[in-house]
Amino acid sequence: MSTMESKQQQVEATLRLAPVVPVVIIDDARAAVPMARALVAGGIPAIEVTLRTPAALDAIRAIAAEVEGAVVGVGTVLTAKDLHAAQQAGARFAVSPGTSPRLLDAADDSSLPLLPGVATASEAMSLLERGYRHLKFFPAVPAGGQKLLGAWASPLPQIRFCPTGGISLASAPEFLALPNVVCVGGSWLTPVDKLLAGDWAGIEALAREAKALR
Ligand code: 3PG
Repeated sequence: MSTMESKQQQVEATLRLAPVVPVVIIDDARAAVPMARALVAGGIPAIEVTLRTPAALDAIRAIAAEVEGAVVGVGTVLTAKDLHAAQQAGARFAVSPGTSPRLLDAADDSSLPLLPGVATASEAMSLLERGYRHLKFFPAVPAGGQKLLGAWASPLPQIRFCPTGGISLASAPEFLALPNVVCVGGSWLTPVDKLLAGDWAGIEALAREAKALR
């Protein structure tokens, strides 16, 4: 089996763990472990921690080391350096908002599975040529929502998507009903106010609602 194929299988297994992958922006790494425990307790094991704050790598490290049942990933990966740093911190999958030739070359050389973002059929075709069968559709709602994604199901049936960007608990079912959607991503499970307040029960309740989407 090619390395790319095994990485695609790892991505697929991760995306199939739950209907939603929470997209986390974390300001205080001390919140990482209780937050991840709450998500796992609510039935949401795959967690994307975005590299948008200085706390992100410490948060990934802490979740990887301490939270049983969590599959921690890294989001907002823009460069090869991001990819390597996150893998060293313990990330088990990586997500990017789009692609660049250098990032794709780095991903080819890395054992960390990448879920790259696309917003057009041409981008999806280019990634298909490189062996990607699982893609993030980003930004899902502004780029055309479930209508656009549904329109790709017939010409691009080999590709499964994780739409992310502007999706809510209310709109998630429209996406999850599409034949080419494996799960959705969204930040609504880990809102800033709940993270700041340490409202882990509240985050677990949001996770339970998300888990019940399927
Ligand atoms: C992101 O990467 O910011 C995700 O798309 C999250 O989007 P959301 O905040 O609209 O869920």
